[in-house]
Amino acid sequence: MQEEICRLNAAGMRVSVQAEEWLSSHPNAKAVVDKLLEKPVMFVTPETLDELAAEADKIPEPIEVSRALSFHPAAKDFEPRFRIIDSKDVSGKSRCTGTLDDFVAHFRDRFERERKMLKARVTANPIVTTKTLKGSINSTVRLVAMVTEKRPTKKGNLLIFAEDEEGTTKIVVPSNEKCFEQSKSLIPDDIVAFDGKVTTDFLIANAITWPDMPVMREQKTSERDVAVMYLSDTHVGSKNFLEKEFSHLLSWLNGREGREDLAGKVKYIEIAGDVVDGIGIYPSQEKELSIKDIYKQYQTFCELISQLPDYITVIVSPGNHDAVRRAEPQPCIPEDLIKQNNIRSIGSPSYVDIEGLRHLVYHGTSLDSVISNVGGLNDGYMKPEKPMLEILKRRHLSPVYGDNLIVPEKRDYMVIDDEPDVVHMGHVHRNAQMLYRGTTLINSGTFQSRTSYQIKLGHVPTPCLVPVMELATGKISHLDFSGGVATQK
Ligand SMILES: [Fe+2]
Repeated sequence: MQEEICRLNAAGMRVSVQAEEWLSSHPNAKAVVDKLLEKPVMFVTPETLDELAAEADKIPEPIEVSRALSFHPAAKDFEPRFRIIDSKDVSGKSRCTGTLDDFVAHFRDRFERERKMLKARVTANPIVTTKTLKGSINSTVRLVAMVTEKRPTKKGNLLIFAEDEEGTTKIVVPSNEKCFEQSKSLIPDDIVAFDGKVTTDFLIANAITWPDMPVMREQKTSERDVAVMYLSDTHVGSKNFLEKEFSHLLSWLNGREGREDLAGKVKYIEIAGDVVDGIGIYPSQEKELSIKDIYKQYQTFCELISQLPDYITVIVSPGNHDAVRRAEPQPCIPEDLIKQNNIRSIGSPSYVDIEGLRHLVYHGTSLDSVISNVGGLNDGYMKPEKPMLEILKRRHLSPVYGDNLIVPEKRDYMVIDDEPDVVHMGHVHRNAQMLYRGTTLINSGTFQSRTSYQIKLGHVPTPCLVPVMELATGKISHLDFSGGVATQK
């Protein structure tokens, strides 16, 4: 907290040793120093700091926002056109009791659906199973299987153990094959197609294909000139929730902060989870909460949302901080917590068709396990589009089994068997954007300032940076509310 002490010294204040200790251990030190700089004192003591911290702990009053009289939003004249794809949302359908049969059915469903995608990929080779493989010695074939283990051989090749519903087999990827580099990113439970020559003991692979997205896909656009704003990880109730900056966003949508042309097109806001900070999510979380009651956290969120223009539909999906089960797929946040006319609550993951563009909304909790398990993702928290892309290539939202809590529903809701036009995630608190084979990947960042936990891990969030996509062109503008008024990046 040396930085905060320097700020106080620079303003002519003397800081006692005890106050220095206080500043280095208090999670809200920055906000307290901000307050102190508004009303400087000569000597800073722990008592002074306690007093200011108590003030900062008070539940913030939502700032009133009203629509500018000169603001005539184009989106007001359009009826909303969106459809939540109910069959792909677990809300109200979870019947899993966690038996062995549930796990078997879950993995069978995942395997079947991913195999179907792989079988649709063009190949000149006949498709075999682990059972029919044995009758194809010396032939070149394609085998669709799930990786169970991989290890390097003494000769520097890669040995892969794989299975399908009919049995198990061993695959060797020679180090001089083109696909050897690709094989490094294989992880256990990956379902892929191996092309290669069959020998008595192994399949010698020369190509590996992930389910992936089809190559020839054009980016889809809408007929009507409306826009979607993407948000996530607002963490209302946290001391680090940037309420003042969020109120500027509300004010912008009411035509008060410039770029009225774009603000007036926003017809939908899609929120990908961690709406509130929650209660008891991690040890001693209460010290970092400005609102310690979960109902009040959601009430404050609803009060903020109530200041949006009434023609905007808000689609809200949960995250690991929200008041639903932690394991995925997560059902929607219950209505009694976010009851509001313009809010539609959906599960995570969910699919929503907005103006003809298929949106896949998922909080992104599994990004942690993807970053730590898939090779080459050391910068995954700085560039979340990279782990997001690995997820899309695998056509599965939680490809690493075991590291991310899942509920083995009979239908695996995490399989991406639709071809989404937009994939929207949050969780890592850092913005990202990428266009991949006609699909737009968006990570919508956060409205929470850097937490002590993130400092410890070295994660650098990008708070208050908000992507808005004009659906008729696919153009994405990044509005930065960190300095208050919206600026474009
Ligand atoms: Fe979050």
